Amino acid sequence: MPLVVGKQILDKARREGYAVPSFNTNNLEITQAILETAEALRAPVFIQVSDGARKYAGMENLSNLVRDMASRVSVPVALHLDHGADYAMVLQALRAGFTSVMIDASHHPFEENVHKTKKCVEAAHAVGVSVEAELGRLQGIEDNIVVDAKDAFLTDPSEAVRFVEQTSIDYLAVAIGTSHGAYKGKGRPYIDHARLEQIARRVSIPLVLHGSSGVPAWLVEKMKATGADIGDPAGIHDEDVRRAIPQGIAKINIDTDLRLALTAGMREVVTRSPKEFDPRKIIGKGRDYLKQVVREKLELMGAAGRA
Ligand code: 13P
Repeated sequence: MPLVVGKQILDKARREGYAVPSFNTNNLEITQAILETAEALRAPVFIQVSDGARKYAGMENLSNLVRDMASRVSVPVALHLDHGADYAMVLQALRAGFTSVMIDASHHPFEENVHKTKKCVEAAHAVGVSVEAELGRLQGIEDNIVVDAKDAFLTDPSEAVRFVEQTSIDYLAVAIGTSHGAYKGKGRPYIDHARLEQIARRVSIPLVLHGSSGVPAWLVEKMKATGADIGDPAGIHDEDVRRAIPQGIAKINIDTDLRLALTAGMREVVTRSPKEFDPRKIIGKGRDYLKQVVREKLELMGAAGRA
C-alpha cells in the first residue's frame, strides 16, 4: 500500500498500548528484511533514514526504494527522517516523499529548540506530514558527558508539556537514560522509568525512545566467534523496553542491532567459507539474521498482528 503518515500509525499504537519499531535502513537488503518480516507478522512499521544513510546511499535513492517496496506489502509503513539536522534537511525529506520527519534541535537552548522545531512543523503539516522532535539529550551523541551530569540532559517533564504545546509536534523523543550505539553502559544500562511515567502522565502524544537496541547475546557471540574485536557491548534489556511501552512509548528506534545482524551474517560466511565470493551468499546470510532481529523486535514491542 502507499506509505502511511507516521502519526496515523503512532496514535493508534499509544492508544492501544503497543509500540512500533523504527528501523534504520541503508540499503536494499535491510529494507527487504524489514518489509518482508513486517508483512509476515502483520505488523505496522517505521523505516528511517539517518544523515549517515543519506550520505551513504542518497536520500532520493532510499526514498524511492522504500516507497516502491512498501507499495507491494499490505501493512502500514511510514518513511521517517531520523535526526533531521535543520530546516533544509526536513524540506529535502518532504520533497523526497517522506511521511514523517524528525527535527533534532535538542542541543540548542529550549527557546531555540522550540523556534526551530515550530518552523519545521509548519512546513511538514502544510503537506500533511507528521513531526517528531526531541527534548533533552541522549548520551552517546556527545562523548564527554560524565555520569554525574547525566540528569541535566534528561527530559524535564514540565518542560516537555510546554514544548509540545508551543511546537504542535506529533510525537516527542524523550531522553530517559538510553544512548545510541553498542556500548550503553555496564551491567543493566540505566533507564529512568520514574521520569518517563511523569512525562507520560502530562503529555498525551506518542513518546519516542531512541537508543533502544538490545545488543542481543546471540549476535555478540556470532561476532566474537568470527574474530570481531568488539569488547563488551551492552544494550537495553527487553524487560525495560516492555515496561516503557505501557508508560507511553509508541515508537522505538533500532539501528545498532541491525548493524550487528548484517555484519555477523556476512562475517560468518566470509570466515567460514573462504572460497566464497558471491556477494549474494555473503550479504544474504546477513539478511537472514536481520529478519530474525526484526521479528524479535516486532514481537517484543507488541506490533505483530496489529496491521
Ligand atoms: P541504537 O543505536 O540503540 O540502535 O539506537 C538507534 C537510534 O536511536 C536511531 O535514532
